[in-house]
Amino acid sequence: MEQVGYSKKVMENFMNPRNVGVIENPDGYGKVGNPVCGDLMEIFIKVKDDKIDDIKFRTFGCGAAIAVSSMVTEMAKGKPLEEAMKITRKDVAAELGGLPSQKLHCSNLGADALHAAIKNYWVKIGKIKPEEAKPEGGDEGETCPAE
Ligand code: FES
Repeated sequence: MEQVGYSKKVMENFMNPRNVGVIENPDGYGKVGNPVCGDLMEIFIKVKDDKIDDIKFRTFGCGAAIAVSSMVTEMAKGKPLEEAMKITRKDVAAELGGLPSQKLHCSNLGADALHAAIKNYWVKIGKIKPEEAKPEGGDEGETCPAE
């Protein structure tokens, strides 16, 4: 059945978002815009022993995007980079208990910004080439019905 309202988890993460803010001199930084609505999300990471030691976000977006940012930072914190890289848009939406179909595109920003921050770090340490750090898009085949 199509989901119409917001889950408790979405509301809770929207009302009380975790990891809001910026990190000065981050090891990795990712910024992505949502082509559907023009909203913007930034993720900052600090890396220690190849794990996400600290993570913060700044989101100029709707309530669902803020809940997604909060959730994705919670999911990624403390994880090895390789594992955090595997967090998908779908994982974030599922962890939030789903999103109404017209707000599914809002969940894209979270995983994309996280991956962008990790890739930014990998470019800095020479693990990947700058051209490999290009933003994703449609990688999970999860597209917005409005697209
Ligand atoms: Fe823009 Fe939700 S409407 S991210």
